Amino acid sequence: MPNSYIVLQILSFTFLVLNANFPTTTSTITATNGTRLVLKLMHRDAISHLFHNPSLRIPEPTNRAINSSLSHDIDIRGPLIPSEEGSTLLVNISIGDPPIPQLLAMDTGSSLTWVQPPICSACTPAFTSIYDPKTSSTCTSLSCDSRYQCTNYYDFSNCGQEKQCRYSINYLDKSSCGGVIVLEKFTFLASDGGVWEIPDLVFGYGLESSGSIRDLSGILGLQIFRNRYSLVSRVGKKFSYCIGNISDPHYMYNQLILGEGAVLEGDSTPMRIRHGHYVVSIEGISIGDKQLNVVQKEFDFNVVIDSGSTITLLQRSAFEQLKREIMNLLDGLLRRAIVINAGERLCYWGNLVRDLKGFPIVTLHLGEGADLYLDVEGMFKRVSDDIFCMAVDVSGSDINIIGVYAQQYYNVGFDLNAMRVSFLSIECELLED
Ligand SMILES: *[C@@H]1O[C@H](CO)[C@@H](O)[C@H](O)[C@H]1NC(C)=O
Ligand SMILES: *[C@@H]1O[C@H](CO)[C@@H](O)[C@H](O)[C@H]1NC(C)=O
Ligand SMILES: *[C@@H]1O[C@H](CO)[C@@H](O)[C@H](O)[C@H]1NC(C)=O
Ligand SMILES: *[C@@H]1O[C@H](CO)[C@@H](O)[C@H](O)[C@H]1NC(C)=O
Repeated sequence: MPNSYIVLQILSFTFLVLNANFPTTTSTITATNGTRLVLKLMHRDAISHLFHNPSLRIPEPTNRAINSSLSHDIDIRGPLIPSEEGSTLLVNISIGDPPIPQLLAMDTGSSLTWVQPPICSACTPAFTSIYDPKTSSTCTSLSCDSRYQCTNYYDFSNCGQEKQCRYSINYLDKSSCGGVIVLEKFTFLASDGGVWEIPDLVFGYGLESSGSIRDLSGILGLQIFRNRYSLVSRVGKKFSYCIGNISDPHYMYNQLILGEGAVLEGDSTPMRIRHGHYVVSIEGISIGDKQLNVVQKEFDFNVVIDSGSTITLLQRSAFEQLKREIMNLLDGLLRRAIVINAGERLCYWGNLVRDLKGFPIVTLHLGEGADLYLDVEGMFKRVSDDIFCMAVDVSGSDINIIGVYAQQYYNVGFDLNAMRVSFLSIECELLED
């Protein structure tokens, strides 16, 4: 089989019948001269001069969370800490024909890929042009004749009054965005120089947006929705990403791999999809040799692997025990600091690198023996040169989240055919071939 083509799996007969009036699509992804679809992930801070608010994280939509009251906006911000760094990772892809480059935030917590409306000039980084469906020859609008058909593309799509397939997303921090869902061609420039084209991906072009979400130029959604037009379905239901030192905006080797080239190595654990989220189980948590007393029921396929969340969120009883252990270890050594918006997290005066030498490793014991190790950089987050806080907080809902800090120095591989996610502890530069 030539490696320049990915032959998509044959769709089941039932599926074809159910979706009989979907537009017909080309079923192959074409790659000119590329071998693997490896994309560089850019750190927002490295190109922050292109944006208005460099420290934005992806807010959690209200209408999509497992528990809609999920409190997710927990980034430390405030007048005390002007130089808080963001941890959003961006992918440079082009949309439509002629292809319009866009910098989209990679998010395993979103199912729709969307871009901001043209009216939002503040959202659009300086180098991009504005995507205009009218001038793109590869944009296919979706019929609204059957309501069923439109609602099948995305979990919150519906037919607007003007008979267009619409989406609208409200975020917990009260920002929102909305627009029209179409099928479009995406062009990916791989790190090996190859150009990959994927036609007919579900895509939302914005018509309106408000609030902090306007500081992002768009989102690359890595959830797999129940249709065959989502990105992850189209690339063979496999992807992986590697995150290095998130505190270093100039770290060059963060990368996203889509499709067959995905790195699915290391400890693997069973995964399920719950309300669109990729969830795994935590069976135990230890700090050094000490096991915390974890209520298994609270973590049973209830831990979201999230690339759009900075910190990790745990149920109260596990969080309190972890916090107590940290207090026992640090209270005698360092002075507590008060940080605005740190919530229940402990903060200390001190420097992560200098003052936490020898701090025990915190281990999340995942299902079937996979361990995720959190060293000081996974457990704590630098706030300034001499203040740091925990990078783990109490969950505001009944779910748990493994955030980006905890995933540093790991390659995380998602295999949606085997329904497993794997964690390989590695320096991302070693993945370059
Ligand atoms: C994104 O890719 C386009 C070409 O497709 C390029 O012109 C642009 O400079 C890239 N942007 C960044 C920030 O690397
Ligand atoms: C693929 O083609 C592009 C331009 O067409 C070129 O810049 C690049 O070096 C080629 N890559 C490989 C791996 O041959
Ligand atoms: C990560 O990057 C920060 C900022 O550049 C640096 O202070 C820290 O030492 C780095 N950590 C490691 C383990 O290299
Ligand atoms: C969602 O969270 C709220 C408040 O934290 C709680 O009262 C409610 O029971 C939760 N809902 C579910 C379905 O767990």
